[in-house]
This record gives sequence, structure tokens and C-alpha cells, in this order.
Amino acid sequence: MIKSSGLKKISTAVFISGTGSNLRSLIKFSKKKGSKFTIELIISNNSKAKGLNYAQKFKIKKKIIDYSRKQNIDNKILKNLKKYNIKLICLAGFMKILSQNFIKKFNGKIINIHPSLLPKYKGLNTHQRIIDNKEKYSGCTVHFVNSKLDSGKIIIQKKVKVLKNDTANSLAKRILREEHILYPKALNKLYSNL
Ligand code: GRF
Repeated sequence: MIKSSGLKKISTAVFISGTGSNLRSLIKFSKKKGSKFTIELIISNNSKAKGLNYAQKFKIKKKIIDYSRKQNIDNKILKNLKKYNIKLICLAGFMKILSQNFIKKFNGKIINIHPSLLPKYKGLNTHQRIIDNKEKYSGCTVHFVNSKLDSGKIIIQKKVKVLKNDTANSLAKRILREEHILYPKALNKLYSNL
């Protein structure tokens, strides 16, 4: 269980690379009455990420980190996290790997959502692999981030049935809808003692 001091809301940063539908669900969740979270910062490695539009829409600060300039990426991110007093990082479709050093510095405060029932189907192309292997179930997982890809302690999971005519696309869509429910649930679970 994570503890935070005082009654102040937990300043959260969401890291994205694409559409940002999970970001949107986290923003909505943070705006609910009695919420313990406030999304203060959106970080993206991709200046064209559609999800960045939510920064403007909801008046949230955004920062683009240019990974092609390989130098000092950790420091650039850390500087921004400090500036906005970020206490929690939610990765939501963030396609870059965070360095071990960075993860150590934010130990236990970085979580991620992955579209499979981990530990099965880590990495990319999960839905196509599920279909190819004729799995009966897939799902999504919210987990802590450690230095190994998609391998940190599991916080919560939701099982989703694979339908007979599912394609990777239709399965992805159904799972994504569950992700939008699961991520807020995971935060509630982690911070229920506050
Ligand atoms: C989600 O399926 C998430 O689980 C995976 O990437 C996708 C991001 O979707 N890591 P969105 O950008 O939140 O819409």
C-alpha cells in the first residue's frame, strides 16, 4: 500500500505515445468528486501523439521528450517531474523503455497498463499473438514497473473472453474498454488507505 502525506492530492504524470484513451479515462477519474489524484503533467516522446490534445482540452501541462537527442533523457524527465511535484507516474501506451536508473529513482511509484493477462504475452502485438495461438481468454493488467519489460508486481487484472470471430482489432477494442475501467480501479486499490 502506498502512503502519502497529508490530505493533498497525489500529483500524477501520465506518459503517452499515441491516442491517449487511457489518459482520458484517468483524467476523468481524477476529476470525480473526492478523487485523491490530480493529473498535473502529460509526458510524450511523440510530438504528434493524438493524446496530447487532452492537455489543451483539460488545461494540463505537457512536455515532449525528444528521444532522438539521446542525451540526458532521464534528467529532462526528472526535471519536469520535480517542477510539478509529481508523486506518481502512470504509463499509458508509452512506447519507450525507462532506464533502470530512472525506475530506481521513482521506485514503486511507476505503474503501467498492458493489454494481456500478464505474465502471459509481454511485449508488443499481444492481440495478434492471442488470436494466432487460439487462446480462449485475454485481458488487461495494471502492474508496477520494474527494470524488466512488463514484469513488475501485478496490481489488478481483468479477463476478457476471445470471441470466435475476433480479429486483433476487435479484440483490442474490447480490451481497451476494460482498460479504461481497470486503470482507475488499480489506483483506488493502491491508495485505498488514504
Ligand atoms: C493500450 O492498449 C495499453 O494497454 C497499451 O497501449 C494502448 C494505449 O492506448 N500499453 P491509448 O493510447 O491509451 O488509447
